[in-house]
Amino acid sequence: MLDKARVLSHDENMRIHFDDTNLLAGMVGESNGLRPVEIRQYAGRALDALRSFRRAFDAGTYGFPGLPFDTVLAREILDFADEVKGSYDSVCLVGIGGSALGAWAVDCAIRGPHPVQGAHSTAHPRLVILDNVDPTLVQAALDSMNPKKTLALVIAKSGGTAETVATFLIIRDWLQRKLGRRAGGRIVAVTSENRGELSEMAAREEYRTFPIPLNVGGRFSVLSAVGLLPAALVGVDIRKLLKGAAAMTRYCWEADLEKNPGLRAALFHYLIWTLRKKPIQVAFPYSNRLWGLAFWFRQLWAESLGKARSRGGDLIHVGQTPVAALGTTDQHSQVQLYMEGPNDKVFTFWAVRNLGVAGKIPKAKLGLEAFDALGGRSLEELIEAERVSTAAALTENGRPNCTFTLDRVDEEHLGAFFQLMEFETAFMGELLNINAFDQEGVELGKRFTFGLMGRKGYEAYREKFAAYEKKRRAAARF
Ligand code: PA5
Repeated sequence: MLDKARVLSHDENMRIHFDDTNLLAGMVGESNGLRPVEIRQYAGRALDALRSFRRAFDAGTYGFPGLPFDTVLAREILDFADEVKGSYDSVCLVGIGGSALGAWAVDCAIRGPHPVQGAHSTAHPRLVILDNVDPTLVQAALDSMNPKKTLALVIAKSGGTAETVATFLIIRDWLQRKLGRRAGGRIVAVTSENRGELSEMAAREEYRTFPIPLNVGGRFSVLSAVGLLPAALVGVDIRKLLKGAAAMTRYCWEADLEKNPGLRAALFHYLIWTLRKKPIQVAFPYSNRLWGLAFWFRQLWAESLGKARSRGGDLIHVGQTPVAALGTTDQHSQVQLYMEGPNDKVFTFWAVRNLGVAGKIPKAKLGLEAFDALGGRSLEELIEAERVSTAAALTENGRPNCTFTLDRVDEEHLGAFFQLMEFETAFMGELLNINAFDQEGVELGKRFTFGLMGRKGYEAYREKFAAYEKKRRAAARF
């Protein structure tokens, strides 16, 4: 069963291939690679992980696997997009973390890599994402937008995230000053239904709203209104996004490691991480169009799998640090470290079989070998040659690596890849026996911020922060 080292999801319009050959001991040596006997030994645990996650999904605890099948929501979003079509040239998304990264990944993959997207207009609106409270970013965004042609989306599952609330107040005020009472009609809120203060505010000011299901966490929400609404508003075909995701969901429920790329990837990554001690995973896309996706993945993997305690309450401090690197750019920045530095990483290449543009290099007969050898070839050939060469060189150096290959970067493949990564993360959580769906670790910093910004109810955190400052001053006097 497990002798084949490849899994191919073959749907007529969507193919994602997972190649784990370079994770095997036969390729990278016994101390860095997996022995087939180990893979066979742990296969049962992977199937148990699938079953326990399936039980939790069936009980309604986790909702992301069901999102691709929500045709009612897709219809509502498309109707709304039709309603407002032509009235804006910029969609200003105010949100952070899981409320922004998915939209960025979609925009970068489908509308084109940042920062070289085509010109925007009411026929081709752009997405302006405000996911940081750097005032220079917010001011530059305001300067670049026309309030009469801007649609503001405020996205927050909790409805109270400091960064989102602060930036939204600025955008709301900017719209109100220019549009008066019509401003509310240019604001859409995506948040938990009847929960949190954003939902309350949306009701009070009569914003159009779309819900985030309670059982879908921020970083797993890209296929809810959180990602679908901004995508639809900038012209992405969300039906195709969902179609690809639905096909991948079916594969990811298969109780067969040969047919389920999510489970297989989770098992191989789990084994290489825990048995061969690789606490770092480098996500290495070889296309600028997948660069946003790498940042989305980084959050998904880090926040879901970095945990202090096991489900049973034992202190385990588990986690694998995700690093985003871009091929070929980072070959000239990171690869020296990857090849010769500590052998503590697993590399996951993200390849694209057909980039859609060949990038023909003009023929050259200059009598200069560096130029003449490349003339007449294509950038597509070069990027592929560089990827396989880097994989080969890493393998020669005993550095385990694997590759996801997408046939193309289009909506179907993107939707499928989102779902694949989310399933892999969920299965990994099961294998590690942790809750991959909470994020307690970010709460303390948030509470300190609320205390420092004078929010009612957080006075104790302000005091706790003052004690910390005092401790710092004492420690510095050595
Ligand atoms: O994955 C998560 O839950 C987080 O990263 C959230 O998306 C992030 O903290 C933003 O939260 P909210 O949507 O409530 O503003």
